[in-house]
Amino acid sequence: MRLLVTGAAGLLGGNLLSTMSGSHELVGIDRNNVSIPGASIHVTDLLNSAGIEHIVESSKPSTVIHCAGATNVDWCELNPKKAYELNVQVTKKLVDICNTHDIKLVFISTDAVFDGLNSKPYDELDIVNPLNVYANTKIEAERNVMAVPRNLIIRTNIFGFNIREKYSIAEWILYSLFNDKEIKLFNDVYFSPILVNEVAPILERLISYEAIGVYNVCSSNSMTKFEFGRYIKNIFEISKGKIVEASIDDFDFKAPRPKKMNMSGEKLGKQCDIELYTVEENLDKFKILYINGYHKKLKEYNR
Ligand SMILES: NC(=O)c1ccc[n+]([C@@H]2O[C@H](COP(=O)([O-])OP(=O)(O)OC[C@H]3O[C@@H](n4cnc5c(N)ncnc54)[C@H](OP(=O)(O)O)[C@@H]3O)[C@@H](O)[C@H]2O)c1
Repeated sequence: MRLLVTGAAGLLGGNLLSTMSGSHELVGIDRNNVSIPGASIHVTDLLNSAGIEHIVESSKPSTVIHCAGATNVDWCELNPKKAYELNVQVTKKLVDICNTHDIKLVFISTDAVFDGLNSKPYDELDIVNPLNVYANTKIEAERNVMAVPRNLIIRTNIFGFNIREKYSIAEWILYSLFNDKEIKLFNDVYFSPILVNEVAPILERLISYEAIGVYNVCSSNSMTKFEFGRYIKNIFEISKGKIVEASIDDFDFKAPRPKKMNMSGEKLGKQCDIELYTVEENLDKFKILYINGYHKKLKEYNR
């Protein structure tokens, strides 16, 4: 496949390109410079729509995987216009460019589109109800993406290792503990995160199955953020640092957040014969990556 990945220097984009390297023809776009073996990277701002159109036309991908966006939930709350521009208008522009050139667009959305009040894990048919600006922009972007029948939306929550000096939740927990810090983790926020490296084979399968519409890409169970941290501390056998249980109600975030983001990946299993792993299994794989030095290898791609 010839794939174009936006957000190439980000957590998902960077790991997709690193993981798929050698199996596909890969083109990446980001406003930050990274150098990923096997991928041709264009350093450009997606707000420059003429530039994007040129890159798409010249690289002729069969699929564009759109990972870039404004991903900091509190920043979005404080900068709603900029968040709209990045998450909605840029996505709409990509929808139009891809539609014109008969290219499939895969849009990466989030578990945050829900209000967290469901008593069971969210599936793809559940009604969205955004609690914050970030979630609102993702839902509006989803609607634009869905206007073209061939397109695909992934709702997810990811963790893993970054190329740049940014921390996913798992890295933040791991390095805080290594540095003997005390951190607070919520015992009342549930999620079903997936190791970012596991997303690549799932996307490959979905694209090869010509899947359309919405799919949850997640782990097969859920846990609280506190349990997530405690599991990391245990499997890495870290005696330093401390994890303190906390309630999200005691934190004064700029953006309100859902408490229960439990997702169901059953559709993925049933329709694409994909086996999802538990959060624990995903974290075990995260540890294996660390032991194998994957985190160090990624840092070599940072320019
Ligand atoms: N991380 C999660 O747990 C999570 C959960 C649910 C959904 N998602 C979704 O998954 C997707 C990927 O998330 P992620 O964690 O990989 O995000 P990320 O690490 O923030 O990566 C996004 C990348 O896009 C770049 N970018 C942003 N605006 C750009 C622009 N105008 N032009 C060019 N590049 C631009 C960012 O650069 P800067 O760093 O300079 O902004 C960054 O390198 C996002 O759509 C996010 O909403 C993520």
